[in-house]
Parts: sequence; structure tokens; C-alpha cells
Amino acid sequence: MIGFIGGTGPEGRGLALRFALAGEDVLIGSRDAERARDAAESVREIAPSISIGGGVNADVAEQSNTVVIAVPYSAQRPTLEGLMDELRGKLVVNVVAPLVFSNGVASAIRVEAGSAALEAREIVPDAIHIAAFHNVSAQELLVPDRALDTDIVVFGDDADAKQKVMGLAEAIKGARGVDGGGLENARYCEDLTALLLNINRIYRAHSMIRIVGI
Ligand SMILES: NC(=O)c1ccc[n+]([C@@H]2O[C@H](COP(=O)([O-])OP(=O)(O)OC[C@H]3O[C@@H](n4cnc5c(N)ncnc54)[C@H](OP(=O)(O)O)[C@@H]3O)[C@@H](O)[C@H]2O)c1
Repeated sequence: MIGFIGGTGPEGRGLALRFALAGEDVLIGSRDAERARDAAESVREIAPSISIGGGVNADVAEQSNTVVIAVPYSAQRPTLEGLMDELRGKLVVNVVAPLVFSNGVASAIRVEAGSAALEAREIVPDAIHIAAFHNVSAQELLVPDRALDTDIVVFGDDADAKQKVMGLAEAIKGARGVDGGGLENARYCEDLTALLLNINRIYRAHSMIRIVGI
């Protein structure tokens, strides 16, 4: 079971849709059970055959063996601190990009731990942490038949967990998983999200990335 904390947002719903289309059982989490059920229903309307449910974040984390953290950076610390028991021993997949917006322009912000992913590991040390999907457009994910012309760079220090998440990345139509090395390297794709958002504004597009030469 793959659960999404903050799964009512576009990134959580988009990844939930794609993982469910790949045959995974998914759960959308929220601070509010009704919002979670509504979000799950909205994803089921896009793809009626998928297996998707919804519930409050703590129940979703408890019932899932893979837990995707899809809240805004400002909410990461309190959210994870509230889920320490439920996340113990789980595979935690962090998609968080630490950003602020000023007059519509996105900027990456400095995180004392080095990155959102490293901070998450500091907060919940007894989970297995992988970071990925930072540069994937939620709007593109939410169009179920759309092949995403993108690479998804996956970071982490547990080889088996990283392979599993690279498999999830490759289950997204058109996407390729790329091994980005250890969790320490996640900062580079977290920050790149700010650049992509600013490019999107200039080109009115949903930009993503390809790594060439490998
Ligand atoms: N959008 C993209 O294209 C994209 C792409 C790559 C990475 N990301 C990253 O993915 C994460 C999610 O992105 P998003 O655009 O889906 O975010 P979002 O819509 O701003 O937030 C996602 C969900 O987080 C929950 N949330 C918001 N504030 C919270 C708080 N103070 N405490 C606890 N929960 C809170 C909300 O769920 P409830 O109110 O239902 O609890 C909300 O629906 C972000 O960290 C973002 O940087 C986004």
C-alpha cells in the first residue's frame, strides 16, 4: 500500500493516479477525512478502475508500507513530528521542494539540515528515506494518458528502497528513473524545482528535466 501524506494537493493526487494506474493500491491522506475521501473520489473519476481510498494522514501512514510526503515545505516538520510512530520502519518518499514565492517568482530556500529530505531523516531517523519526483509536473501527472517526456532522479542511501522507487518512477508512462546517488544529493533537484517553476511562468508551460549522456 502506498499512502500520500498531504495527498489532496495536485502533486499527491497526480502521483497517486499514476501509481494506481500501474496497479498499486493507494491511499490519499489529509488532515481532514472528508477532504481525503473527496480527493480520492476525484482521482477515481479520472480513472474509474483504480484502487484508491482516503483517510486522515495518521491512518494512511499506519496502513501503508510506502509513505509519500507531499506537503508544502513549511508543513513538513510539524507533519512528520506528528507521524513519528506511524512512520517507524517505513519507506518514506520525500517529494518536498523547499520554496517561497514572491510576486509569483519562486525561490529555493536554505534548509539548515541541507535539504528537505535530510531534514525529514533528522526528524524521523528510524524510517528509510528516499527523495524523488521533485521535478515532475503535477498538471502533467493528472492527465492519465499523457506520456511524460522526463527523467525522475531518485536519491537515497538504501539500495533496495531506491530500486523500488525507481521502479515506481518508471511505471509512469514515458518517464525514466535515474539514480541520483545518496540522499545528500537531493538538494540539487529540490532547488531545481524553483528554476522550473520560473521557466513555466515565462513559457506558460509545464517544464520537466532530461539527463543526457548516460
Ligand atoms: N505541484 C507540483 O507540480 C510539484 C512538483 C514537484 C514537487 N512538488 C512538491 O510536492 C509537495 C506537494 O505539492 P502540492 O503542489 O501538491 O502542494 P499543496 O497543494 O500546497 O499542498 C499539498 C497538501 O498539503 C496539505 N497541507 C497544506 N498545508 C499544510 C499544513 N500547514 N500542515 C499540514 N498539511 C498541510 C494540504 O492537505 P490537507 O489540507 O488536505 O491536509 C494540501 O492539500 C510540495 O512540497 C511541493 O514542493 C510539487
